[in-house]
Amino acid sequence: MNSNALNVDVAIVGAGPSGMLLARLLKLNGISSALVERQSIKHVLSRIRAGVLEQGSVDMMKLADIGDRVSSEGDQHAGFSITYGNDSLRIDLEKLTGKKVTVYGQTEVTKDLYKVVQQDGIPLFEETGDSPRIEMDNDHATVSGTSNGVPFSIQASFVAGCDGFHGVARKTIPDNVRKDFERVYPFGWLGILSETKPADHELIYASDDEGFALCSMRNERLSRYYVQCSTQDKAEDWSDERFWDVLRARIPSKIAKHMETGPSIEKSIAPLRSFVCEPIQYKRLFLCGDAAHIVPPTGAKGLNLAFSDVYYLSKGLIEYFNDNNETALQNYSTTALARIWKSERFSWWMTSLLHKFDEQDSFSDRMRRAEFDFLMESEDYQRALANNYIGLPY
Ligand code: APR
Ligand code: PHB
Repeated sequence: MNSNALNVDVAIVGAGPSGMLLARLLKLNGISSALVERQSIKHVLSRIRAGVLEQGSVDMMKLADIGDRVSSEGDQHAGFSITYGNDSLRIDLEKLTGKKVTVYGQTEVTKDLYKVVQQDGIPLFEETGDSPRIEMDNDHATVSGTSNGVPFSIQASFVAGCDGFHGVARKTIPDNVRKDFERVYPFGWLGILSETKPADHELIYASDDEGFALCSMRNERLSRYYVQCSTQDKAEDWSDERFWDVLRARIPSKIAKHMETGPSIEKSIAPLRSFVCEPIQYKRLFLCGDAAHIVPPTGAKGLNLAFSDVYYLSKGLIEYFNDNNETALQNYSTTALARIWKSERFSWWMTSLLHKFDEQDSFSDRMRRAEFDFLMESEDYQRALANNYIGLPY
């Protein structure tokens, strides 16, 4: 067998956060795997994504023995604000739930994971393009393709489909078995990074009659901001001046007045979508993370949900290989989907509360305002929000 033909316990398609965390947890439990990645690792490590980790996700990083940097460099946040025009409500996560969240960029999570994947010597076939093919029969599965133009083939007991929304794994589940549930929102988020002091020390989810804006951060000198934009817009349509003007108009004026602005060092537009596929297991294939579901980013759930999938799947695989117990693996789809749908609900609700949906629909604007007013008055409602934001148990 040459070095490009491997035999491992689990073949993992996609080396994003889901795939690499799964590979690491399996390795720590003596289970072998190999990763297959469409892009170059350099590309994977440079992607800028969201930055809020639930305690459950930080615990998963600790379990994977990559908890040091997130503990020392991650910023613990005890709350955040939701605003409507100049009215502001602080969601006191710590008081309402006894827990905090950690602000730590997904880019950093990916770097931490890649470091240990390399140290562990987990085989990684990169730059495969769309070549990977997944084949399954009664007693094994094969993932094959070309990496940097050279053919490879991985034989495994199981395949983990961790290849994101546009990957191949989900499409391996036949149409008559798979059901997709989807909502595409009629707006996108334009995001920028700028080397400026964050507008506030906590996140601000801002809304008004014109739409949504988010003030977030990576560190004391690196801010991350978003504004709701049209799905037709291109990043080039938005000069920095236009971006700052719209952002300042949507956040409370007392914050806008004092905020530092500067050149953007990254600017991109992302569409907003809710998506779930059922089931997320078919024969020897198990889907994890964005391959199985998408949430709009408003609840900061994307990466956190991917990590809870990895929790359930790694548990199932460890019990299967190490304890000869198939129960958790057989129940993976049902168990993971129960939590996925609750996170979908929360992300959809936050999105509905904070965005302008339709220029013509003034009734919806009033409903959003009424929802916000009720949230201001009801600590029970705030607690429900807070419990979802800090992360449902798993
Ligand atoms: N073959 C191999 N790899 C693929 C293929 C393919 N056909 N298609 C996509 N990939 C790779 C992508 O290049 C990417 O590196 O799979 C990886 C999937 O990573 P993510 O999209 O980051 O998905 P996931 O690991 O589930 O992480 C979910 O990260 O993407 C964010 O918003 C997302 O926060 C969420 C979290
Ligand atoms: C981010 O910092 O990029 C971020 C934070 C919270 C969100 C979405 C994105 O809900």
